[in-house]
Amino acid sequence: MLSQPTTVVTRRLLHLTQAVAAAPEQPISRLMSDALKNPGLISLAAGFVDEQSLPCQMIEETIARLLRNPMRGRQSLQYGLTEGDANLRLLIAQRYFAGCHDQHAANMVLTAGSNQLLHLITQCLLEPGDLVLCAAPTYFVYLAMLRDLGVDAVSIATDDAGMIPEALDQTLSDLTAQGQRERIKLLYLVPYFDNPAATTMTIHRRQEILQVLERHQTGGPPIALLADNAYRDLRYDGVDEPCFIDCGADPALTIETGTFSKNLAPGIRVGWGVLPEPLRTGLLRRKSVIDFGSPSFSQAIVRQLMLDGLLDDHLKGSLLPTYQDKRDAMVAACQRQLSAIEGVHFQIPQGGLYVWLRLPPEIAASPGAPLWNACLHRGVLYVPGELCFASEGAKIQRNTIRLSFGVQSEAGISKGIELLAQAITEVRASGTTSCC
Ligand SMILES: Cc1ncc(COP(=O)(O)O)c(C=O)c1O
Repeated sequence: MLSQPTTVVTRRLLHLTQAVAAAPEQPISRLMSDALKNPGLISLAAGFVDEQSLPCQMIEETIARLLRNPMRGRQSLQYGLTEGDANLRLLIAQRYFAGCHDQHAANMVLTAGSNQLLHLITQCLLEPGDLVLCAAPTYFVYLAMLRDLGVDAVSIATDDAGMIPEALDQTLSDLTAQGQRERIKLLYLVPYFDNPAATTMTIHRRQEILQVLERHQTGGPPIALLADNAYRDLRYDGVDEPCFIDCGADPALTIETGTFSKNLAPGIRVGWGVLPEPLRTGLLRRKSVIDFGSPSFSQAIVRQLMLDGLLDDHLKGSLLPTYQDKRDAMVAACQRQLSAIEGVHFQIPQGGLYVWLRLPPEIAASPGAPLWNACLHRGVLYVPGELCFASEGAKIQRNTIRLSFGVQSEAGISKGIELLAQAITEVRASGTTSCC
């Protein structure tokens, strides 16, 4: 009998570039994927939006209306301009800026979500080894992006109204005295309902920050201000604040960005930014070799919704009341369960999706710390606050937690906070509070 020929299988692997091969997995992705293997877990960690409020019917009807119009329909299915749809850019400028709408629309670029824009802006303005100044704490995805691009971040102390101007002033003076001024190119802020600290900057605070920045503009390369307004529309109390450009920021050095991920749907993924020259032209050149324009179809849906007044109907009629109830449920649960624990502090957020919790200084909320393990054991997940601090600058506060009320139901929020309170009490009682 003839024997079967044996095939020798050689396992060949593609070679990654050095930069990609060296890139570490983001700690947050690791934590989430490990933790989410437990299906019963109540996640107060994910920054996702409320599932039930995603407006399927409104989008379905809008798409039908859009495609029934032969001209707009075909346009939405065609390639578009690299900078994005001109009509949508004007609508965005009119919505978020007090004046100069045509100018802002002309300077605007639309992207597939604002994260893409943050990446492009950073790539266009910063060399590896340059410095970005940011709040302590700040948006951890942006910190990860900076690390990935080889850019260093320095964090500045904050209070209940966001970055403290005197702390910014001091850091700029210190870095200048250390001969580091040449490296400072950007100040990154999330001025509305910050992710993670949930703070909003008043006009007064914005103007103070601008004055400090202005004082330090000489003596080195210009410092751009990047204002990431991702949560601006999610306000439950009080009145809107003007953006930095409307507070008198130098338009030649100021970048304002926003997104329709939080006020509409992240799956639509339309982000926008108003960019001064020469950044706009440089960024468009980069974008044109990457994708020569973000999806026209998503932009056409957002434009149609705005023209029909449906974005505001959705916000006022569904999203804001839903999130306000969830915010209230989280605040009530924190007051009920955590206020009695000495040393626990939180601010009631006026908007956004987060509550920022400070624990007694001796309790570390770090991954792997007794509190983290106790929470996982009980079935509740949070974002360890320390992931939101740059490694340089203001002290990393390991006793902090970001809680999100976007995804869970009100009952899930209450239960999650109850479990967290039990875990804190248990860890305090055991005396094993610090990170392992
Ligand atoms: C502060 C901040 N900026 C930007 C983004 C990016 O949003 P997107 O890329 O969906 O527009 C997020 C998302 O969570 C965010 O929290």
